[in-house]
Amino acid sequence: MNKQEAKHRIEKLKELVNYHRYQYHVLDKQEISDAALDSLKKELFDLEQHFPEFITADSPTQRVGGKPLPEFKKVPHKERMLSLNDAFSKEDMQDWLERISKLLTEQEKNQIDFYCELKIDGLAIELEYDNGIFKQGSTRGDGTVGEDITQNLKTVEAIPLKITNYQLSIINSLVVRGEVFISKKEFEAINKTQVAKGLPLYANPRNIAAGSVRQLDPKVTASRKLDSFAYDIILGVETKTHEQRHDEFKKMGFKTNSHNKYCKNLEEVFHFYEHVQKIRGKLAYEIDGVVVIVNNNALFEKLGVVGKTPRGAIAFKFAQSQATTIIEDIKIQVGRTGAMTPVAVLKPVQISGITITRATLHNEDEIRRLDVKIGDSVIVGRAGDVIPDIIKVLPELRTGKEKHFKMPTHCPACTTKLEKSETEVLWRCPNVTCFARSRRSFYHFVSRPAFNIDGLGPKIIDRLLDEGLAQDPADIFSLKEGDLAQLERFGEKSAENVVAAIQEKKEIIFSRFIYALGIRNIGAETAVDIAEHFGSLEKLKNAKLEDFDSIANIGPIVAKSVYEWFGDKGNGKFLEKLLKAGVKITRRPTSGAGRLQGKTFVFTGTLENIERESAKEKVRALGGQVSESVSAKTSFVVVGSEPGSKADKAKKLGVKVLDEKEFLELIK
Ligand code: IVH
Repeated sequence: MNKQEAKHRIEKLKELVNYHRYQYHVLDKQEISDAALDSLKKELFDLEQHFPEFITADSPTQRVGGKPLPEFKKVPHKERMLSLNDAFSKEDMQDWLERISKLLTEQEKNQIDFYCELKIDGLAIELEYDNGIFKQGSTRGDGTVGEDITQNLKTVEAIPLKITNYQLSIINSLVVRGEVFISKKEFEAINKTQVAKGLPLYANPRNIAAGSVRQLDPKVTASRKLDSFAYDIILGVETKTHEQRHDEFKKMGFKTNSHNKYCKNLEEVFHFYEHVQKIRGKLAYEIDGVVVIVNNNALFEKLGVVGKTPRGAIAFKFAQSQATTIIEDIKIQVGRTGAMTPVAVLKPVQISGITITRATLHNEDEIRRLDVKIGDSVIVGRAGDVIPDIIKVLPELRTGKEKHFKMPTHCPACTTKLEKSETEVLWRCPNVTCFARSRRSFYHFVSRPAFNIDGLGPKIIDRLLDEGLAQDPADIFSLKEGDLAQLERFGEKSAENVVAAIQEKKEIIFSRFIYALGIRNIGAETAVDIAEHFGSLEKLKNAKLEDFDSIANIGPIVAKSVYEWFGDKGNGKFLEKLLKAGVKITRRPTSGAGRLQGKTFVFTGTLENIERESAKEKVRALGGQVSESVSAKTSFVVVGSEPGSKADKAKKLGVKVLDEKEFLELIK
């Protein structure tokens, strides 16, 4: 990006971020997710770091959003209420340490240590005590002037009305800051009553906390069990370190977070961060990261303030499921069934710790619905292990140079004219020998739920096809080590491994075999139903269309695609070739059969020690069933790491939840 472009982008980002901050902080409204807004703020911050000449006083990086509401008495803060810059990765943290180290002497640099606090997802408050008695409480407001919410804060049990330690109570003026928040449980309870009253739901606990604290009637506040943690002392008690401030808090009767921890160096900070990530789900309240503070107060002061954020502290946020980025191009991906899927090529962006470079745009209708253009800034999201998709376009950030995308009329691989039936949203390449289609079918054939051949990924398949070492997937079974080893940059050892992996998977259970064929409309679950019904390839091959009628879960469209696939001559030859190459179809393992009879399992999240497909096969082998959605009839939900909404649903419905260890125990 050149200087001129950066300037424009900064201007537009400022406007957009300010708009959403105003919606959020002043109007308590939310149009885009916290994650998306954070992402925009981060881009603005990074751009301003690159081009500091464009930092202006009205930038949201310099300004704390939110004007005090007119209904409340205004309270000037004793000291400006700052906010924190965000870090999303270890690299961001290292950059931060490097930045601040430059401002310190060699000796001071060596002294840097940290105090880490959980970053509570609530609302910042300031509390003032006169001679040990709670006098006034306020919101952040615009950072300089807040709103007087004293009466409301008096209803919060965690906030002492009187300082407990007599010694300290003679301090005539004490000013502390902290966070007021609501527990996850309380959040759910309040939303339930909202539903009962026919009122709109609150988006998150912070919204409720904000709404509750800024009530004109303290009785309403009192009814919402608000909680609070203290995190900083502004006036009244002098300490050498930030950690000691927390010791003082305890003596004075303030509630502090017991997880907060002193960390000697960044290494320990990373350790703590990872630990907090693990316990996050079990906490009674929402957090969105860890606040990392230079522990030595003298150094913290020396580092000073830039804009409206202290240099000596940073919010190390958890990876998020949404981020903003730019669509650099839109390409067409040809699927194995000939479907043309438009795919957005993204400027790389991190979501949940993974770099995303592509997102699916699904189809032409979706492009129209989103009104997306090449060059657009967008919000991308990623849920669990699903392919990322575009959630929203940010037209406010357009420069006028964005390009309209037009669906091609011909297949980009084989130039055949594309077709679309009336009932479908997808354009398809009708050419069954289309090179792009075959390539995709090949990837599918060796993929995990199919033949599951370790080490034989798309890159190697591309090379096999390009070098003419394989024409179709049946050819892999006759590959010799020498064939692979001749490929450039392919070591002898890896050639040996791949060939061994292929030979090992020659024997395959029937359902996987059916799935591997890549027949249109046949997913892994449908393949199981078909395999169970017919029992052998011979029977399936000779089946008539009406033979599919009696299979549960199979409708006429699926029946037709299977029937037609087996009727095709080319496919018949391919089947023969597979069997000749030594592929052997086996029946399902039957040991322990029936033990899980009548039990239904649902899987969510990533399993560490067993692949999802194998886990499902184990369940079926023992007579159990696998389903994709949780209902009251589900017997068990098996939860891996980073589970999706199914885990929550299980809890809601009271379905038994198993972790991976318990599941493995059960199927042993
Ligand atoms: S700041 C000198 N600590 O996060 C820094 N902020 O922009 C002293 N927040 O809205 C500590 N938990 O209200 C600090 N433990 C915590 C926090 C925390 C939540 C909020 C804060 C502000 C935002 C920071």
